[in-house]
Amino acid sequence: SQDPLVVFMPSGKRGRVPAGTKVLAAARQLGVDLDSVCGGRGICSKCQVSPSFGDFPKLGLTAREGALSGINAVEERYDRVRGLKPGRRLGCQAEVQGDMVIDVPPESQVHRQVVRKAADARAIVMDPATKLAYVEVPEPDMHEPSGDFQRLVEALQREWGVERVTAPLPLMARLQPALRKGGWAVTVALHKGHRDEAHRILDIWPGFYEGRLYGLAIDLGSTTIAAHLTDLRDGSVKASVGVMNPQIRFGEDLMSRVSYSMMNEGGAAEMTRVVRAALSELAASLAEEAGITPRDILEAVIVCNPVMHHLLLGIDPVELGQAPFALATSESLSLDAAELGLTGMAEAARLFLLPCIAGHVGADAAGVALAERPDRAEELTLIVDVGTNAEILLGDKDGVLACSSPTGPAFEGAQISSGQRAAPGAIERVEIDAQTKEPRFKVIGCDLWSDDPGFTEAVAATGVTGICGSGIIEAVAEMRMAGLLDARGLIGSAEATGTARSEPQGRTHGYLIHDGSAEGGARVLVTQGDIRAIQLAKSALYAGARLLMDERGVEKVDKVVLAGAFGAHISPKHAMVLGMIPDAPLEKVTSAGNAAGTGARIALCNVSARAEIEALARKIVKVETAIAPRFQEHFVNANAIPHAVDPFPNLAT
Ligand code: FES
Repeated sequence: SQDPLVVFMPSGKRGRVPAGTKVLAAARQLGVDLDSVCGGRGICSKCQVSPSFGDFPKLGLTAREGALSGINAVEERYDRVRGLKPGRRLGCQAEVQGDMVIDVPPESQVHRQVVRKAADARAIVMDPATKLAYVEVPEPDMHEPSGDFQRLVEALQREWGVERVTAPLPLMARLQPALRKGGWAVTVALHKGHRDEAHRILDIWPGFYEGRLYGLAIDLGSTTIAAHLTDLRDGSVKASVGVMNPQIRFGEDLMSRVSYSMMNEGGAAEMTRVVRAALSELAASLAEEAGITPRDILEAVIVCNPVMHHLLLGIDPVELGQAPFALATSESLSLDAAELGLTGMAEAARLFLLPCIAGHVGADAAGVALAERPDRAEELTLIVDVGTNAEILLGDKDGVLACSSPTGPAFEGAQISSGQRAAPGAIERVEIDAQTKEPRFKVIGCDLWSDDPGFTEAVAATGVTGICGSGIIEAVAEMRMAGLLDARGLIGSAEATGTARSEPQGRTHGYLIHDGSAEGGARVLVTQGDIRAIQLAKSALYAGARLLMDERGVEKVDKVVLAGAFGAHISPKHAMVLGMIPDAPLEKVTSAGNAAGTGARIALCNVSARAEIEALARKIVKVETAIAPRFQEHFVNANAIPHAVDPFPNLAT
């Protein structure tokens, strides 16, 4: 007679296995994705399956009945002690006895998918570089003089099919107590990067370790550092935080930091020191917020622009300040967090830095490319990642171009008189009535508009503290639409605009959005200087985009994706009214949140994405804005709101 046929769902993989084969063994044989941390010992319960056609011998029998029907004592005991959900069985214990269809639930799949918030975003497939493995190690023997580590490695090779295994020194020190405490059974966190030849043991626990492993996805911007603490098992984000980059005190934008390092002996080293300290603090505070310990954080993936990249690594960025803008190293980097002196995470934690595309187009642009994959787009897609240094990508499946543009920090709320970074209390949305010229607004952390009843009570905890990047973009665009601002960017007087909110400010005017000064709060006034800062920033952004369009030989794009720093969700309509981006049908302009950070999270959750972005980074053609003669011309024309010459037909509708 024939061997039983098993079909695994949802993969549909099928094949015949001899009667009595364990489900986990059958899954491995047929290439089915079934998880296991304990290596099939009935301890971890990660291998659970449920039969949807045919059945295994029943659980809940007496020992004698069980023995007769082939039921496994290990699984029996697991069910008694820990309890299995109805219909669920341990795949490493249950045996195939006849034809069956076996469902592998999502939590038992190694490569489970993480759904991303944006509707059109690709799901992340979990396949982290660091995974747990339980292993039983032979006891030492006077007649067999091998070390405990060597016997552990042999056991890992035998049970987990790994080849080379290494461990850093601090791990060696933990090894012997863990083996003895665990009765010669331990769980190790095994790490293997996409280019590593060996597996590396990052941590070790006695017996079976039930805890979770975490990683950090970090977007290290010139103005803002955003970090997401991510569960390496299911990709969920446990805590997020954004802080100011402490290097700001050495210069607001990239070039001023490069010149600080050129003018000051030891300046680069000082900037290196403060950013490493900030990352260590950030990691520690995220761990605290999520109620875990720094030891649970085993990896960090970092995206950043080339200057931040070099300063983090302790490399003087001086070459990035002058043509030909040579990078010290452009490939992705895998290293120990300890090499950079980072704390707040595990002693043996690993770091991964995405590759840089060119001297001005960094690992942050690589992160955006990984999150948005413009190289797979059917439509010609323009992606702008708004920050102090904007990363701009244009492309489709026929090729991708990239440049960066020095927009300055205005879009992150810096250089704005009432500006602040995105945090509770900051104005993030603004509307101005075209008739009455009266504003209403929303602040971060509150769902009500400022003219809704109960608004003042709802924001009592923080008050209104200032205006963030997305808020100032909306404010300026709304002022233009309400006729408070002309195409040159000049704010009209009270007589010209018909509202007392237009206040004289020396020889210019400012528009008052909110006056909380009576209660000791903020006075949020948009000044002529603020408008100038936004005009400069948006002109740089637009000019960069236009330069890529010239290079590609097109006058318009099919689709625009707006990405931004932490917390910034830029409104497509306002971005277009302002002329930050070229004209496109409004429904084709979308906001992607922190795409660079998402790219970091993808590379954290899926180790093969690291190889993917390396290959893609090599294919992206970079365009150098600093030496392109047309950049200046585009920049000057883009100073008007929305633009001096380029048409915006989609704004008319
Ligand atoms: Fe761990 Fe089955 S593989 S319980």
